[in-house]
Amino acid sequence: VKKRLSTANITALKGVRPIVSLTAYTTPVARLLDPHCDLLLVGDSLGMVLYGMDTTVGVTMEMMIAHGQAVMRTAKNACVIVDLPFGAYQESKEQAFRSAARIMKETGCDGIKLEGGEEMAETVAFLTRRGIPVFGHIGLMPQLVNAIGGYRSVGRSDTEADKIRRDATAIGEAGAFAIVVEGTVEPLAREITAALSIPTIGIGASPACDGQILVSDDMLGLFNDFKPRFVKHFAELAPLISQAAEDYANEVKARTFPGPEHTFQVKRQPV
Ligand code: KIV
Ligand code: NA
Repeated sequence: VKKRLSTANITALKGVRPIVSLTAYTTPVARLLDPHCDLLLVGDSLGMVLYGMDTTVGVTMEMMIAHGQAVMRTAKNACVIVDLPFGAYQESKEQAFRSAARIMKETGCDGIKLEGGEEMAETVAFLTRRGIPVFGHIGLMPQLVNAIGGYRSVGRSDTEADKIRRDATAIGEAGAFAIVVEGTVEPLAREITAALSIPTIGIGASPACDGQILVSDDMLGLFNDFKPRFVKHFAELAPLISQAAEDYANEVKARTFPGPEHTFQVKRQPV
């Protein structure tokens, strides 16, 4: 039986071929994505995508665990990583270990992801030395939305670029197995990718990265509250669902659904 890719397998793909990753939150969608992905991320973006929250700040450990379990019930190929939610790791490296260990024990996932640069390097080293593979996340960090006052791509100014360079180096040296680079200008993403020995997985961070990730509901055209520049719709599912609901409503009102083929009768039909 083929086993899921490990975090070490993901690291080893750097320089070999681009790494394919998507978010997944539920069993049925994960089942469809898994054969095509190296890595499935149970991202805290689920707060917005599944629960209608405005930001990821309100996402809880319980939500991440429930969806991590849902994805793990079906993943057979991809490495599965679960995001640590806001508030579950920033307080101390001990708190981070407790949260990460709980997620790994209760879901069986392969590792966790946390946002942060230099300020989180000590935590990343603490976790990796104690058996928890860490996926880093630098550049645009959505959990900082309230401190920053919004979402915008970063790394244009020299000060910003220097900070992101230091963040990348710190998280790489701390032992992360790979790092998400989000919302970052191309030259900087290219530079970081060349400088690090671990793979960079880009989202809105140019083709220069070692791999790409998108929120699956974005690329499926299912979550259309807004469409950032970096999202490409590989399908348009929203109109298909609207149309199906409209057709269903019309058939129920016209009493054409359910038809005889959907209806249980008391007596067997003559053959
Ligand atoms: O939560 C998420 O979906 C993410 C990815 C977009 C990297 O963190
Ligand atoms: Na996230």
